[in-house]
Amino acid sequence: MSKIKDYSNGEITVHWEPSKCWHFGACVRMLPDVYDPEKKPWITPEDATTEALKNQIAQCPSGALSYSMDSQTITSAEEGIRHLNILKDGPILSKKEVLVTYEDGTKETKFTRRSYCRCGASDNLPFCNGNHNKNNFKAEAHNPE
Ligand code: SF4
Ligand code: FES
Repeated sequence: MSKIKDYSNGEITVHWEPSKCWHFGACVRMLPDVYDPEKKPWITPEDATTEALKNQIAQCPSGALSYSMDSQTITSAEEGIRHLNILKDGPILSKKEVLVTYEDGTKETKFTRRSYCRCGASDNLPFCNGNHNKNNFKAEAHNPE
């Protein structure tokens, strides 16, 4: 099991799994006050609202980022549709909808993302870790849906 690092603003905890990160910087471009590789810690969730963090985490292509709510306990999680997308010159992306119900009855649709290597050069197989960008991997895109 690879290491996961946690960063909380007191309301939401951002989880980051470095071995799955592409280091491509979508998070840095979207919320530069929160994600700054030059800072320590490099993620400071107190510099954005919980809603802004949720929106940004939903855009992390690799699934390296996820979150949990600090004062909410999940009572059920119902899996929904899975979307598959094969990227041009890159990995296979899997995005799955999960309908989460919390203890207080509120519901939220979350997405779990995974990116699977198809260039063979990842240090974290079967997951992509962005190495396809370094080895100039070439392959066609494909959307099976
Ligand atoms: S993979 Fe996710 S965590 Fe890593 S740089 Fe890209 S957006 Fe940020
Ligand atoms: S497809 Fe990304 S490391 Fe192989």
